[in-house]
Amino acid sequence: MAKTLKAEVESRRTFAIISHPDAGKTTMTEKLLYFGGAIRDAGTVKGKKTGKYATSDWMEIEKQRGISVTSSVMQFDYDGFRINILDTPGHQDFSEDTYRTLMAVDSAVMIIDSAKGIEEQTLKLFKVCRMRGIPIFTFINKLDRQGRTPLELLAELEEVLGIESYPMNWPIGMGKEFYGIYDRYNNRIEQFRVDEDQRFLELGEDGEILGDHPLKESGLYTQALEEIMLLDEAGNEFSVEKINNGTLSPVFFGSALTNFGVQTFLETYLKFAPSPQPRMTNEGEIDPASEGFSGFIFKIQANMNPAHRDRIAFVRICSGQFERGMNVTLARTGKQFKLSQSTQFLADDRSTVNAAVSGDIIGLYDTGTYQIGDTISEGKKNIHYEKLPQFTPELFVRVTAKNVMKQKSFHKGVEQLVQEGAIQLYKTYRMEDYILGAVGQLQFEVFEHRMKNEYNSDVIMESIGSKIARWIENDKIDETLSSQRSLLVKDRFDKPLFLFENDFALRWFQDKNPDIKLYNPMDEH
Ligand code: G4P
Repeated sequence: MAKTLKAEVESRRTFAIISHPDAGKTTMTEKLLYFGGAIRDAGTVKGKKTGKYATSDWMEIEKQRGISVTSSVMQFDYDGFRINILDTPGHQDFSEDTYRTLMAVDSAVMIIDSAKGIEEQTLKLFKVCRMRGIPIFTFINKLDRQGRTPLELLAELEEVLGIESYPMNWPIGMGKEFYGIYDRYNNRIEQFRVDEDQRFLELGEDGEILGDHPLKESGLYTQALEEIMLLDEAGNEFSVEKINNGTLSPVFFGSALTNFGVQTFLETYLKFAPSPQPRMTNEGEIDPASEGFSGFIFKIQANMNPAHRDRIAFVRICSGQFERGMNVTLARTGKQFKLSQSTQFLADDRSTVNAAVSGDIIGLYDTGTYQIGDTISEGKKNIHYEKLPQFTPELFVRVTAKNVMKQKSFHKGVEQLVQEGAIQLYKTYRMEDYILGAVGQLQFEVFEHRMKNEYNSDVIMESIGSKIARWIENDKIDETLSSQRSLLVKDRFDKPLFLFENDFALRWFQDKNPDIKLYNPMDEH
């Protein structure tokens, strides 16, 4: 490797985009890849069989939905940085894996539709990022369309997310009257709908346009300046420290579709986003630039093709450098083996020869060796990274074996898929009914498919709908409080929790039983 390991690691920026469906994640990703030269034409990420993102024959469900495994991790180089974008599947593909992916990144980019503001899925993903205290950069998208006012959007960001914001730039008009952005950080105006060579208008030290310019007479410009003055006086102060600990989000405005403000965003993001940071293990923090490969598995992708039962385990590298054929130890079992079958998810073929270091993601072919949360490390070291958190499910089904004679394979399948982290399992107290919990419908589909194909077990899944899961402090239980509306169950660690039918049932229960303290593990942080 030409660069030192430290320099390689410091050039890494690994992030995920958090957004609600339709806010512009795909469009933004395409533009970023385009700048990085990873795709020839913006417009190929979604395309199934075109460009460099030819779909592999991995997961049938994924194939049907037009997503490819290669889009799980996208890598490109820009201005001396090596950038990894980890996909956070949304729509019907929202699952625990989406949350877990956020455990593997060093920062997040939040895309907000300027007409819609903070939406449900953004909020959920944001909470997971906040739990980790990672930097969150905001891109307010679709300024070429009429949306909510920028001040309103900022106020919502602060109120709903409880985070400070610092606009790095500010829109001048919007929709049909969108003129461009006033770039506070770079002290320039970036003009929309102009030729490339006229794109930037430099500003004087006082932040005003130099010389005569028609824009100076425009009401939109005056309004933008007034708002910026307001921000200067009453807004938050820019603080790198607060960006780093995730309490202040730098905000950018732009339009991904028209490729406006994206490059400015990328360049500023790269200046402030962190490279891989030390991560905690049972032996203390491990420096990402230290020798000795180590990493943890944050996602296992099952192959839905019955002829290929192998899977891919996604490893986030946390120290050292990955080499094909290296000997590693799997912390959970203490077993040592050679990493010969591996694949690297990179933007193009050329990159497969490049080194994978901390911050990068590699895929390991898995025939049942790995579980989500596993640590592997080079040689005989036996460190393990912190356990991945449990995410609170919101969808539940009661599950039974279709064929009562096949209880054994049913139980084995459920047990293994639960252990692997594909789905969560709960049991009712008396009857020990199996209830599965998931954060997205896809998890149930994958479960059903894998039970049939890998364990030869047809299952009956009966929806009990969406529920609010709340655990009980002190683990004190009173079985008489269990009902249809507040079903008492235990998780796989035997911790009791209630599954409430809805918000109303939860509040009613709390009113009636003020002594029972309930909590949501995802709100604890
Ligand atoms: P997602 O991955 O977050 O779900 O969003 P995606 O990028 O697919 O964008 C959703 C829709 O919003 C797309 O339109 C896309 O073209 C549009 N869009 C994205 N960025 C902008 C923007 O800056 N301005 C405007 N006006 N629209 C934007 P679509 O018609 O739903 O899909 P398509 O047919 O264009 O793919």
